[in-house]
Amino acid sequence: MNFMINETAQKLRGGYYTPVDLAAFIARWVKEKSPKTILEPSCGDGAFFQAFKKVRGFSKAQITGFELDKVEAAKAKACAKESGLTNTTIRNQDFLQWALEQMEDGQPRFDAVVGNPPFVRYQYLPAPFQVTAEKVFKELKLPFTKHTNAWVSFILASMAVLRPGGRLAMVVPSEIIHVTHAQSLRSYLGRECRRLVIIDPEELWFDGTLQGAVILLAEKRRSKADKAEGLGMYPVKGREFLSLTPSDVFEAPQAINGKTVQGKWTRALLDLETRSLFDELADHDEVFRFDEIAKVDVGIVTGANKFFLVDDDVVRRFKLKKWAHPMFGRSDHCPGVIYDEDQHEANAANGKPTNFLWFLEHGQKVDAAAKAYIQRGEDEQLHTRYKCRVRSPWYTVPSVYATEIGMLKRAHDTPRLIINRIGAYTTDTAYRIRTRDVVAEKLVSNFINPLTALSAELEGRHYGGGVLELVPSEIERLTIPLSGKANVDLVDLDKAIRSLPTHQVLARQGKVVLGALGLSKRKQECVLEGWRKLRDRRHRTSSEPLAEEA
Ligand SMILES: C[S@@+](CC[C@H](N)C(=O)[O-])C[C@H]1O[C@@H](n2cnc3c(N)ncnc32)[C@H](O)[C@@H]1O
Repeated sequence: MNFMINETAQKLRGGYYTPVDLAAFIARWVKEKSPKTILEPSCGDGAFFQAFKKVRGFSKAQITGFELDKVEAAKAKACAKESGLTNTTIRNQDFLQWALEQMEDGQPRFDAVVGNPPFVRYQYLPAPFQVTAEKVFKELKLPFTKHTNAWVSFILASMAVLRPGGRLAMVVPSEIIHVTHAQSLRSYLGRECRRLVIIDPEELWFDGTLQGAVILLAEKRRSKADKAEGLGMYPVKGREFLSLTPSDVFEAPQAINGKTVQGKWTRALLDLETRSLFDELADHDEVFRFDEIAKVDVGIVTGANKFFLVDDDVVRRFKLKKWAHPMFGRSDHCPGVIYDEDQHEANAANGKPTNFLWFLEHGQKVDAAAKAYIQRGEDEQLHTRYKCRVRSPWYTVPSVYATEIGMLKRAHDTPRLIINRIGAYTTDTAYRIRTRDVVAEKLVSNFINPLTALSAELEGRHYGGGVLELVPSEIERLTIPLSGKANVDLVDLDKAIRSLPTHQVLARQGKVVLGALGLSKRKQECVLEGWRKLRDRRHRTSSEPLAEEA
């Protein structure tokens, strides 16, 4: 968890500026429509004004810029002046508050919007700004969530004050494609725009931040009769695209609509053949949605993992054997798909925290040794932590049960289910899975295949580190082939996962699991390639060593 106090002032106001060559490309695109009124909702020191000077043809436009930071607003003002933009007003105030007033009055006023909205988590926004961010959603009758980020309400409000037929072009976080909290925005853009294009770079455009960025080009529908074409993806490598004609880039990708635009936009990263094949397979009689065949629950929440999850040495030193139960919760605790006695012993011998301390089990009273250990926890103020203090006594962890299958929340390459042969407990780094009408081993062994791996990329989310994470609602939507004819030897699979690269394991599994559905070798490869493309894209957003698979 990040705490606000650890964040830099630059990060808290979302102050990362756009390189002028990118801003100039954006300026050239909006210039094609000869805009007379232009909005820059969060202008920083004026990168886009410099770009306007470079591109030329903006000197007569009426430009309105907003910037919250006084010093930066003054710089932007000077920059606009120096760039010969005589008709420019810089307002040193909150853009959202101003935009809300315009929205109430119902008159869109700008021919074009350019910019790069602040990236600041809702929880880090000062209270009045939280209120305005929420009001923007309300005004547009869109579902709001506190998981949102400032950039979402900035794009929404900017789109709302854009004239029909106008163009919005912004550098935005690449997570616009997949984060659940941006669903309102994706749906709104899908409805409001004639066409949407995302320019998706292979590399990171910003130093000093892990946040990948993309360029969003959006043209608003002129009227309700204007057809909404949907979204196109334009992948780029390097900066060569900057010398192309922006309208050619905008018109180049085939736009897709329907469920691609209504849901996560990750599907648009796939080619038409893979997308159609994926949809066709999802409708196959022997292919299921995860929630049709299994149930997913979060793992045990201790509130103080270091205290409750301990190695054998702690158990020995504090005489806690009576309270210790086997547990696993990280990828290095189980690199394969079988968690058994051998794996558990190997983990214990390596000093891993393989014990979960469950005090006051079945009404047993804690003994003197446990009391002493609990006292140490209280000396560290663990009993005052939120998750601990809301239960009584604080050291008794609730909802303790093990399931036959566990699944780690995060994966480097692709998620896997783990058969839990010794009834070990799993904590909040893992999920507890119970099957319905399917044998656990069958589900675990068939789960590893290119189709499920691809669906995990389509449903999941990833952040700066490039690690894939799935929350329960995303797991429930996974696509699982389960043919009666697909027989996988779980022990062999376990060995393969521990020793071979993931794509090889998936290719082998594809032959058996997808082959049993009657899928040709070429089509199996097409699904595998789809997975590999999305996995590689996810990994390349990383500019630091990947976080452990957890
Ligand atoms: C990512 S920077 C982009 C600056 C500039 N648009 C560019 O592309 O270089 C976002 C800017 O938004 C400003 N900002 C943050 N919250 C704001 C608000 N509520 N209203 C106006 N500006 C804001 C920050 O101070 C920061 O300078």
